[in-house]
Amino acid sequence: MKIKITETVLRDGQQSLMATRMPIEDFLPVLEKMDQAGYYSMECWGGATFDSCLRYLDEDPWQRLRTIRKHVKNTKLQMLLRGQNLLGYKHYPDDIVRAFVRKSVECGIDIIRIFDALNDLRNIEVAVDEAIKAGAHVSGTLCYTTSPIHSLDMFVDLGKQLEKMGCHSICIKDMAGIMSPKEAYDLVSALKQNVKLPIVVHTHGTTGMGSMTLLKAAEAGADVIDCAIACLSGGTSQPPTETMHYVLEEMGWETGLDKNVLKEINDFFKPVRDSFIKSGMLNPIVMGTDPDALNYQVPGGMLSNLVAQLTAQNKLDRFQEVLEEVPRVRKDLGYPPLVTPSSQMVGVQATNNVLAGERYKMVSKEIKAYLRGEYGKAPGQVDEDLRKKVLGDEQPVTCRFADLLEPGFEKYKAEIGDLARTEEDVLSYAAFPQVAEAFLERRKEREERAVKYSIEEM
Ligand code: CO
Repeated sequence: MKIKITETVLRDGQQSLMATRMPIEDFLPVLEKMDQAGYYSMECWGGATFDSCLRYLDEDPWQRLRTIRKHVKNTKLQMLLRGQNLLGYKHYPDDIVRAFVRKSVECGIDIIRIFDALNDLRNIEVAVDEAIKAGAHVSGTLCYTTSPIHSLDMFVDLGKQLEKMGCHSICIKDMAGIMSPKEAYDLVSALKQNVKLPIVVHTHGTTGMGSMTLLKAAEAGADVIDCAIACLSGGTSQPPTETMHYVLEEMGWETGLDKNVLKEINDFFKPVRDSFIKSGMLNPIVMGTDPDALNYQVPGGMLSNLVAQLTAQNKLDRFQEVLEEVPRVRKDLGYPPLVTPSSQMVGVQATNNVLAGERYKMVSKEIKAYLRGEYGKAPGQVDEDLRKKVLGDEQPVTCRFADLLEPGFEKYKAEIGDLARTEEDVLSYAAFPQVAEAFLERRKEREERAVKYSIEEM
């Protein structure tokens, strides 16, 4: 029996524990070692890493990827992509999506895991198509959630559609760590019976079920599981790589991992972890177990956002009420899975509903866009009264929203002008206009300063 392991420490691990603030210098020295561990792949890009590089770390995300590729010659590099949302929070025009996917592969990505927050597969069509054309392995993704309308049949049906789209594997993405061992066993078994593709299972340790869930997924025939190196595992991160390797090997699986190399990798990351604890960026609380997610379905990242949001408004005493409002807002919106960007939308709205003292007195522009159908089709029925209250007589769109968007690349290129020197720069700007423009300006100033100093020295 064989099972493969994806190492997530460079993307989801650090994203879930320390808000994606790990600069490349912190892991550059260990990349060649990681390349020898025997991982199926290293998830190292996409998700929030792109935004974080530009916004907080003053790093060019494309350069980060190329540098990783230079040091990791054998192991497959993997990224997470939000379909038509790319790595941002809104829908981009098709030409931007295609160029972004092509560039990602060109800069070194082998595997692209592609999802849509609402599981509206029209929103991943273009990205999947372009990734296949670019020669990447496409992992078509189901966002796992539970609700009165989500069922095993619904997920199996999605799996079949992903297979038809030409995806090379299917990933069950349990972003909140709410998939129980039994549910994982049943879902992986059902997918195995109905599709021929390898099954990848992604979960989090938030509720304490993570490693049990992965073990039962393995028993049901999962081909790949996501883990994080021990010292940055558990809690809101993934279950520990070394522990899963130990347990699986004992039960007769071959993981292909070298435990001595894993130990060296873990030893490398311990002081990195400690420095983030010291700076306050990594709160050890998130490494613990929180069964609240089982009751409220709130993913780890969303919990910390809610706390931050309420703290900023000096309203942390309303936390419990907000938490209880989350499932009600979710029901009104037709049970969207809570994952970026829907988790933020639901969280903000639940907070507004509680703090305003009246539900939907204040409605965010994202919720308006959602009700207009701009994020795709809701999994269930949207509350009709809410729709009328917010949209009046306006009819929601029913087509794929990106069909209504004009091509954008040339427009962005003209707008950003000389600040962009490469196609990558234009794509950064298209993805995050203000953040990328500020980054490109800082880069320019830095270079001008460097030129000035070198002239003075002469
Ligand atoms: Co995740």
